[in-house]
Amino acid sequence: MTTQYHPTAQYTSVTAPGALPLLGHAPAFIRSPLDFVAGLAAHGDLVRLRLGPLDAYVACHPDLVRRLLTEDRTYDKGGIIIEKAREAFGNGLATCPARAHRRQRRMLQPAFHRDRLPGYAAMMAEEIAGATARWRDGDVVDVPAAMYRLSTAVTARCLFAAHERAGTLPVHDSMDVVTRGVARRMMLPLPGADRIPTPGNRRFERARQNLREITRLLIADYRAAGTDHQDLLSVLLSARDEHGRGLSDGEIHDQVVTFLLAGMETSAATLSWAWTLLAANPAVRERLHTELDTVLDGRPARHEDLPALPLTARIVNETLRLYPPAWILSRTVTADTELGGHRLPAGATVLYSPYLLHRRADLFPCPDRFDPDRWLTTARPAPGTYTPFGLGARRCIGEAFGTTEAALALATIAARWTVTPTRGRPIRPHRSSSLSPRSFTATLNRRIR
Ligand code: HEM
Repeated sequence: MTTQYHPTAQYTSVTAPGALPLLGHAPAFIRSPLDFVAGLAAHGDLVRLRLGPLDAYVACHPDLVRRLLTEDRTYDKGGIIIEKAREAFGNGLATCPARAHRRQRRMLQPAFHRDRLPGYAAMMAEEIAGATARWRDGDVVDVPAAMYRLSTAVTARCLFAAHERAGTLPVHDSMDVVTRGVARRMMLPLPGADRIPTPGNRRFERARQNLREITRLLIADYRAAGTDHQDLLSVLLSARDEHGRGLSDGEIHDQVVTFLLAGMETSAATLSWAWTLLAANPAVRERLHTELDTVLDGRPARHEDLPALPLTARIVNETLRLYPPAWILSRTVTADTELGGHRLPAGATVLYSPYLLHRRADLFPCPDRFDPDRWLTTARPAPGTYTPFGLGARRCIGEAFGTTEAALALATIAARWTVTPTRGRPIRPHRSSSLSPRSFTATLNRRIR
């Protein structure tokens, strides 16, 4: 893989063409968000958009993305995408402002320490084996729904391992309503629209309350028991800041909801896209089967198998390149500044899109081609080019957790099953802030070996 861009280039800054009176670029963005955003790189390095009454800039050049993500005091969490997410995530790690971030990140980092991963992976492996044990040869399943259930079970189990039936906690439906509600609100940034008592808004509110109640009860149970269950909630309860202070119940609630929201949809989407890509690329699928047959010989994958499954890992990387679940994110400018030679006023929204970067032909040759072998090189992509997990201080805290889950599920399922979409047509993405495929069905065939 080559990344050929010019770090010392003069950056160009333009307004995207095609703005309509009053609506600006909103119709083009809403009609076909991915194509619209990916097409912006052709216009310049920093591209200005008008989305109805809102102005936003899109950083299209990797250098500008790197600055945006590493200068986190100047470019704070905020802007049209993050503000909507705050309604569901509260003031958790993913949405809190920079002034609260350092304390939170320091307190939560131990939950994702490398040493904890084998323990989580063992729980993941059990949940994956349990979910797939119910499959029968010839079953037709809705793949995104099945992957979402799987990922809910895994995330809930790793958060609340002590709960008897963590994987079946009634979080699934509420999470679904909340994640989709947040995604819809992010794409329709109309001020006040969320407060109109439509059936959709009422459902969203009920689901949010339901999640709050479930986490409140779990926190109370855990506090009463006072034991370390080696799960994420136990770490949250024992976290202390430099003054020895712990997190309040409200803060723990926001972190739990953040982990659920940030972890479930992203992993489910990655797996769903992987199945579509493998079905469309039978030669890669065959090589994957060979790798899995050699290493696993039909048994479920374990954490210690992962180093021996390099193609599985490359497939996960390449899926995240083509379909990064968090495909567009925003920051807000905290003080007048300059980006790529262009003046940005305090309060401006700047967007970055991993999807846009990953589809630039100068960064990833033949960018639309599914080619896991482009990751065979040992050279790491230049900072700001491959960003499915973001960059800098706000980089995903669950990166190793998410890639481990995706690799274990992909390996365990592909070792025993072929997943063949029932319709030959390409699967299209949801028009949403999270890049997940529309519902599609596939036939599960047990592999004869
Ligand atoms: C394939 C899976 C995943 C992808 C693609 C992904 C992607 C991302 C991205 C792009 C960001 C940075 C957002 C920004 O720049 O504004 C992020 C942050 C975050 N992610 Fe993930 N994520 C994944 C899995 C997870 C999991 C499993 C968890 C937790 C269990 C998680 C928790 C978080 C949190 C808490 C943050 C905020 C970090 C901070 O601001 O310090 N993610 N994720």
